[in-house]
Amino acid sequence: MIRVKSLSKDYGSRRAVNELTFSADKGEILGFLGPNGAGKTTTMRMLTGFMPPTSGTAEICGYDVLENSLEVRKLVGYMPESVPLYNDMTVMEYLTYMGEFHEIPDLDDRVDEVLEKVHLDDRAGGYISNLSKGMRQRLGLAQAILHRPDVLILDEPTIGLDPAQIIEVRNLIREIGKDHTVMLSTHILTEVQQVCNRVIIINKGNIVAEDTPASLQARLSGADRVHVKLKGEATELLPLVTPLPGVLKAELIKENELTITMSAGQDVRPEIARQVVQNGFDLLEMQAANLSLEEIFLQLTQDEPSHPTLDGSMEPDQAGE
Ligand SMILES: Nc1ncnc2c1ncn2[C@@H]1O[C@H](COP(=O)(O)OP(=O)(O)O)[C@@H](O)[C@H]1O
Ligand SMILES: [Mg+2]
Repeated sequence: MIRVKSLSKDYGSRRAVNELTFSADKGEILGFLGPNGAGKTTTMRMLTGFMPPTSGTAEICGYDVLENSLEVRKLVGYMPESVPLYNDMTVMEYLTYMGEFHEIPDLDDRVDEVLEKVHLDDRAGGYISNLSKGMRQRLGLAQAILHRPDVLILDEPTIGLDPAQIIEVRNLIREIGKDHTVMLSTHILTEVQQVCNRVIIINKGNIVAEDTPASLQARLSGADRVHVKLKGEATELLPLVTPLPGVLKAELIKENELTITMSAGQDVRPEIARQVVQNGFDLLEMQAANLSLEEIFLQLTQDEPSHPTLDGSMEPDQAGE
């Protein structure tokens, strides 16, 4: 498990992470959601013992990351933002090399087991340079779970993957989460909703919200939008979807495209699809369009105008980021 108390990190005079306090228990998949520059990577580096905190404490299974960094590295599997993989090694060689570093007993069997788990067993003899981005990401996961750590820290594990690969990696994480403590960072709201049981939202080094994905969703009224594209005109669909229960508003954005905003926690997509089909429209596309993180922060900050961590923590944006 992870216990973090008042954890801060300064780069020079600049505070990147400001007094974070949170914890995560076994069987939990904690989402760490925030835009670029929020402090996700910095926090994770401190949790994995790769970087000392400026102040505050972090413990992994009771071990302080600073005082017991060796113990912590045994207990933590870390998948960094860009996984350093050795292109001139085969998949098997790489995992064996990583496993020797951790002094894993029965290493050959363990490597086979892990490769099977991340569905790379058919690639064992192949060179890393020939792996697709999705496969590399899965190899990164394999590397992180190889030494059977209790805690997994995954820094943007689905970044740069195509939709099919994203689904695959998310499924893997869900499965791994059953018997590990997992903390994963992302800048995608739907990712925490699909994978995590709890979410911490971080912005400019501060925690701005902590919640379950479901009740976070409820707080973000109208957080989900659906984009519908028809083959012909969409004007006549507008009056059919507008009165549906759960639809907040529907707007025509092009002559053949509609954007429909749904109330919080209600997924009206099946009903919308039914209206489209029953009334003989030709559907080209139906796509969920989510609020941007910026819009989410706006909603969250509007919800709680007196939230203490929001006061004074919203520094003006730094140039060049
Ligand atoms: N090594 C570093 N030296 C100086 N500033 C850094 C360093 N790493 C990150 N930062 C700054 O700290 C802030 C948080 O960065 P980071 O933890 O990488 O955020 P995230 O992972 O959420 O994108 C950013 O403003 C970033 O520019
Ligand atoms: Mg990062």
